[in-house]
Amino acid sequence: MTKQTDPFREETILGRAYDARLMRRLWPFVRPHARWLGFSLAFMPVATLAGLAQPYLIKVAIDSHIVPGTFSGIGLVLGAYLAAILVEFAARFGELYGTNLAGQRVVFDLRRTLFAHLQRQDGRFFDRNPVGRLVTRLTSDTEAVSDMFASGVVAIVADVAMLVGIVVVLWLIAPKLALVTYTVLPPLALIAVFFRARLRDAFRAIRVLVARLNTYLQENILGMTVVQLFGREGRNFEAFRAINDEHFRVNHRSNIYDASFYAVVDTLSSITLALLVWFGGGQILQGALTFGVLVAFFEYVQRFFLPIRDLSAKFTIMQQAMASLERTFTLLDTTPAVASPAAPAPLPARSGAQGGAVAFEGVWFSYNGEAEWVLRDLSFRVAPGETVAIVGATGAGKTTIIKLLQRFYEVRRGRILIDGLDVRSVSLEALRRRIALVLQDVFLFAGTVEHNVRLGEAIGPEAVARAVEAARVSSFVHAHPAGLQMPVAERGRNLSSGQRQLIAFSRALAFDRPILVLDEATSSVDPETEGLIQEALHVLLEGRTAIVIAHRLSTIQGADRILVLHKGQLREEGTHQELLARKGLYHTLYKLQYRGQEAAARKTRP
Ligand SMILES: Nc1ncnc2c1ncn2[C@@H]1O[C@H](COP(=O)(O)OP(=O)(O)O)[C@@H](O)[C@H]1O
Ligand SMILES: [Mg+2]
Repeated sequence: MTKQTDPFREETILGRAYDARLMRRLWPFVRPHARWLGFSLAFMPVATLAGLAQPYLIKVAIDSHIVPGTFSGIGLVLGAYLAAILVEFAARFGELYGTNLAGQRVVFDLRRTLFAHLQRQDGRFFDRNPVGRLVTRLTSDTEAVSDMFASGVVAIVADVAMLVGIVVVLWLIAPKLALVTYTVLPPLALIAVFFRARLRDAFRAIRVLVARLNTYLQENILGMTVVQLFGREGRNFEAFRAINDEHFRVNHRSNIYDASFYAVVDTLSSITLALLVWFGGGQILQGALTFGVLVAFFEYVQRFFLPIRDLSAKFTIMQQAMASLERTFTLLDTTPAVASPAAPAPLPARSGAQGGAVAFEGVWFSYNGEAEWVLRDLSFRVAPGETVAIVGATGAGKTTIIKLLQRFYEVRRGRILIDGLDVRSVSLEALRRRIALVLQDVFLFAGTVEHNVRLGEAIGPEAVARAVEAARVSSFVHAHPAGLQMPVAERGRNLSSGQRQLIAFSRALAFDRPILVLDEATSSVDPETEGLIQEALHVLLEGRTAIVIAHRLSTIQGADRILVLHKGQLREEGTHQELLARKGLYHTLYKLQYRGQEAAARKTRP
């Protein structure tokens, strides 16, 4: 797969376990919670010292009390031993408490920032970024950053402090025996390096496979109806099984590495103990070493190998966190092409009844570079209070006009004016507050019908009732026991597409904006309901400016003016009668559509 076409390339990035540049960028998120990290770090030396003291106290008990048989004072030593255990426990608790809290708070802020960042992005951004990728950024990637706090940085520093402490203490207690112990360090380092590289590769492969698994699952669950309808279950199951198999294999490989590493480290630990018995035993016989020192060495060596065993796991956590931070900051670095100007021109306040003027002046637009123009030199005006219909074949660029008007995308050439002001000169919020929109693809949120009409906005109950009535939402809502509180499932799955359109329609009406834009807003509604909506619209459109994209002639005929769009160009403009008289494109469209609709009407009649 090439760099461009591999959608999981971003998941494979795995680099250093520590990247100062990324940590510096994370600092603004960490700073507000740094005192919790400080809290945690303050406990670390306490825990380390308490840990280091324990084997030494055992040595004291053996050499000063048990071997010579002087039991007076042994209680004090044992008491100190117990105290050291308790202090270590409490200090480790404080250490973990601080890092976990700091980590969770940093991630909490990071998620908020990311979400707000997503909300500022334009249409092009969402064209480029699949949903799954963005969800991963806000979930597993931020989770990886929190892991770094919970069991990464501070834990590694604590481990290293303990390792260094043990090396030093061994040297201080018995230098010769310490040297013998140190001989295992070089092979240990080699083994760690060997396994680290392999575990990292396995881990990277797992990540890619999990991403593939997620994407495949998401698509198949969303498209289950199509899968079932076209009998694709068997084939898709095979495809799924292949990914799942691969996932199993890679995971298995990583488990083998993990288990081998553990086993090898354990073996080395046993070898070290054997070396101690052999060499230390000899020294004891020669009277060069006390028994207590040997026991203390045993204890220290075991404590030494413990963190080594999960050092590789911690290393992986750090690598994962660095990769996640890299992806997170890459996402945060995308500046939307469409943004409010620094000093927005004030758009004069208007209410719904006052309309609003719209003008396109020589607009050129393409989604993908200048080779594929979607709109070419498009100019038209809509006067306040006017209703203009846009007609044209599928793919002519009708929806694109709407997206540009709302500034989801930026025009390539020319300009779009709203009440005489360039849409680029006013704030996005002011611009979008001026327009109510019903798009072709209705999006409903899980909740209730009322929630979907108001979207949490403070719209009075009468206004909601009026909008619901006008858009005929009442026709199916009133039959439901909960009325307007009728539940809406995710994406409005429990409603027909016509009902979904009606809800979107009443949403647009309830928001009472000066400019109403309808993009095939009633294409899934039966002709009778649409007729009723048309009547209601007549009243509602009073004074409002409307741009209506419609398939049905009945809708179009009611417009003050009709624009005929063909391959991104404005080809004809006029009233229904004028355009028919021209016998041009509209005339052809009319004949085709009219015949089609006549035929359809005949078929449905008994
Ligand atoms: N997000 C997009 N990215 C790339 N091309 C797009 C995108 N949306 C629409 N197009 C293309 O732009 C052209 C016009 O689309 P559109 O304005 O939706 O047509 P319609 O008149 O049917 O509403 C089509 O050729 C379509 O393939
Ligand atoms: Mg369209």
